[in-house]
Amino acid sequence: MKKVIAPAKKLIGEIVMPGDKSISHRALMLAALAEGKSEIHHLSDCQDVKSTVNCLRELGVEIRQEDNRTIVEGVGLDGLQAPAKTLDAGNSGTTMRLMAGILAGQKFGSRISGDASLRKRPMKRIINPLRDMGAKIEADDDNFAPLSIEKSRLTGIEHRLPLASAQVKSCLLLAGMFARGETVVEEPAFSRDHTERMLKHMGADISVNERRVAIRSFSKLSGGILTIPGDISSASFFLAAAALLPGSEIRIKNVGINPTRIGILEALERMGATVNFENFFVQNNEEISDIIMKSQELNGIKIDGSLIPRIIDEIPIIAVIASQASGETIIRDAKELRVKETDRITAVVENLKKMGAEVTELPDGMIIQGNQHLKTAKIDSYGDHRIAMAFAVAGLVAEGETEIDDAECVDISYPDFFRDLEKIYG
Ligand code: S3P
Repeated sequence: MKKVIAPAKKLIGEIVMPGDKSISHRALMLAALAEGKSEIHHLSDCQDVKSTVNCLRELGVEIRQEDNRTIVEGVGLDGLQAPAKTLDAGNSGTTMRLMAGILAGQKFGSRISGDASLRKRPMKRIINPLRDMGAKIEADDDNFAPLSIEKSRLTGIEHRLPLASAQVKSCLLLAGMFARGETVVEEPAFSRDHTERMLKHMGADISVNERRVAIRSFSKLSGGILTIPGDISSASFFLAAAALLPGSEIRIKNVGINPTRIGILEALERMGATVNFENFFVQNNEEISDIIMKSQELNGIKIDGSLIPRIIDEIPIIAVIASQASGETIIRDAKELRVKETDRITAVVENLKKMGAEVTELPDGMIIQGNQHLKTAKIDSYGDHRIAMAFAVAGLVAEGETEIDDAECVDISYPDFFRDLEKIYG
């Protein structure tokens, strides 16, 4: 599907985001492993989360929709059943890496694969530490899905991540639930900590000391009611666009503002935006608030170091609005973007260039010149949801119409993206 974006004057109004994708995956997996029934409210309806639902169903977990709640009949820590076929994680790195942690400690073998993009993403980062725990895993070239996992008995390890990654950390913590003794994971910088928070909320034996997390095997997780906050990564497209378009004012209701996820808000503030919060509350161990954003004059900034893991999914949209800020924006230390759903450094640089912007590709980031006049272009989404949405925002400030190919890829994280954009298109 091609999507044509016309320039917008401003964004005005109030919207609600879909449930946070990262938290939705974790809620489903942990509810499946808990004792008794769980009721999940505001679960994301995106394709990636559907991949997790499908994998869990294949492992014998009953998941059903009742009105707008998702009911998960927990099977307990030793209740998963051997799947009859290869589990399909689709496009979802989180599904594959977190499920691999769970599968590694089961009393049955399994195989997990995904689409062409996911089969190109590195898995050695989970395979090696899982093997250190005693897992038996085979992979293509010892790095790529499909992953074949034999039944094995795991033992806890102490693992220092070379690179901050919530998916790798969570994989090992989930494997740690099935391992003898203690599993310790230490990160070089903070990545999102939803797994740790939800495990604690559901009664796991887990302790967190700064960037060091320890989990011990334990007898049970308790199911219950889990409410998923709005997705800040989805919100970031509208927040950035509203900050940019003169006269805009939007309110995004009930957004998750976990400190490990709000790198985008810190970056926008450093660019000159004022972010206002209203109706703050804490639910299921996660901070939630309305976010109000008005248009501001923006300036270029440098984004690097420990901010990168906390803004990793928002770099494409930051790069787009940086082309409209005054001065230069430099993004470094973000090599990890090259192994996301697509190579997001090349995808952003190529598309910005197509729109006439001056941007330089670096091995680990890019330099974007500000005050650029964006012109009509045909955007290649590379089948990557965040590239499609970031360049839809570029289309709002471009001269003339912007055409985005394969725009249906927004379904991966935000099926209603274009409809919500229309709602606030002033
Ligand atoms: C995610 C972690 C991030 C992020 C991804 C979702 C998660 O990857 O890019 O979209 O849900 O754990 P890292 O493993 O690089 O932190």
